[in-house]
Amino acid sequence: MGVAGVAFVAFAAGSGSGVTKPPEALLDFTPAELAQIAAHGPWPPEPRPDASNRVLNQTRAQAWGASLFFDVRLSAGQQLACASCHQPHRAFQDGLTTAVGRTAGQRNTPGLLDVAQWRWLGWDGAHDSLWSASLTPLLSDGEMQQTVPALAQRVRSTPELAAGYREAFQKALPVDDATLVVDLGKALAAYQASLVSERTPFDDFRDALSRGDAASAASYPLAAQRGLRLFLGEGRCTVCHAGPSFTNGEFGDVGIPFFVPGGVDAGRYKGLEKLLASPYNRLGGFNDAGVQDPRAVSTRHVTLQPRHFGEFRVPSLRQLTHTAPYMHNGSLARLDDVVMHYSELPVERLHTDGERILRPLELSDQQAADLTAYLRSLSR
Ligand code: HEC
Ligand code: HEC
Repeated sequence: MGVAGVAFVAFAAGSGSGVTKPPEALLDFTPAELAQIAAHGPWPPEPRPDASNRVLNQTRAQAWGASLFFDVRLSAGQQLACASCHQPHRAFQDGLTTAVGRTAGQRNTPGLLDVAQWRWLGWDGAHDSLWSASLTPLLSDGEMQQTVPALAQRVRSTPELAAGYREAFQKALPVDDATLVVDLGKALAAYQASLVSERTPFDDFRDALSRGDAASAASYPLAAQRGLRLFLGEGRCTVCHAGPSFTNGEFGDVGIPFFVPGGVDAGRYKGLEKLLASPYNRLGGFNDAGVQDPRAVSTRHVTLQPRHFGEFRVPSLRQLTHTAPYMHNGSLARLDDVVMHYSELPVERLHTDGERILRPLELSDQQAADLTAYLRSLSR
């Protein structure tokens, strides 16, 4: 844990006039740690191609999707829009423990920044595309409470919505109701795919290290550097929170209780059942790439296994300071609470799979503060 002298180079090289940021210092990261750090970038990532949605990159569809996202006319009662829960000024979530639509939900509303990166969508992975994940809230009873025929009828009979469709898709409205409704999902997806989170202090640090610019790297707070070392090493956080988005895109159980009023939330187990039964998955007839879609392979090969019970998707760790409360049920209010959770982990509640990776970290106060400082540096 020695401290290299480079920080003072940064100071000496300062312009000498005006306010110079006080120098921090740079931990002596090992080559292995440097490689791990580099793997958490670069940011922003390349957009992920998705041939299942033919309008994904089309500006007309993106613009219409943006207006639909704020349009209460898509909901049965004309009171709820996507943006009611996914609020732009809160990184597209709502700050609530669990969502409240027409009725109270059981899960925390996820933010939508970087949403085009995920292979599986929803805390339970019940969706394999952004457009199918955008249909569910429209058609779910507790949310916007539409049916396919009623929603199609709403679009057909609202001149502005019908005109919006023709402009976005450059064609007449499809006769088939389901095709029309799926196209709403595809326009909504085109908009949401443009929501990419901003670069963070960690990204500047990571890039500075990658180009060997120790002087710039040293302006990254020492507490965050120590937290990063914990994150990569002892904490083993990167096993699941990997890569530029800090998620391996898969599912896990980290000991968050899955009891809900009247039963349990089976998580990935139920999610997979829903995914495989859905007419809107990548194997169904609404995939614009048909059987050629390279991304349909995962859907074809997933199988339902008992270990999926009580697993939830590994969330991204970017922009966390804007997305409290945390976890699938919003049960942890602050980042300190999350760090405390991993510190005191209830091992008896974990799956055998989880136990192999996770154990209570029993962090000192200093270590807990460092890890929180690191997590905070993943936000702008
Ligand atoms: C009542 C609040 C509410 C409304 C309205 C709502 N959502 Fe959501 N949204 C949620 C919740 C809660 C989840 C998590 C669902 C789950 O995991 O089962 C979610 C999940 C999502 C996801 C998956 C995100 C991810 O990271 O996997 C997408 C995409 C999404 N919503 C888009 C939309 C769109 C588009 C609309 C409008 C058509 C909409 N939502 C309306 C609450 C809402
Ligand atoms: C075994 C895989 C795994 C490991 C290891 C792991 N996590 Fe997680 N993490 C998850 C899963 C899964 C969730 C969501 C759990 C839930 O909602 O029930 C999560 C949730 C989180 C959240 C909440 C994010 C949000 O938006 O709600 C934070 C913060 C977090 N983890 C940080 C860490 C840190 C720090 C470490 C290391 C000390 C770590 N994780 C280790 C899988 C893991």
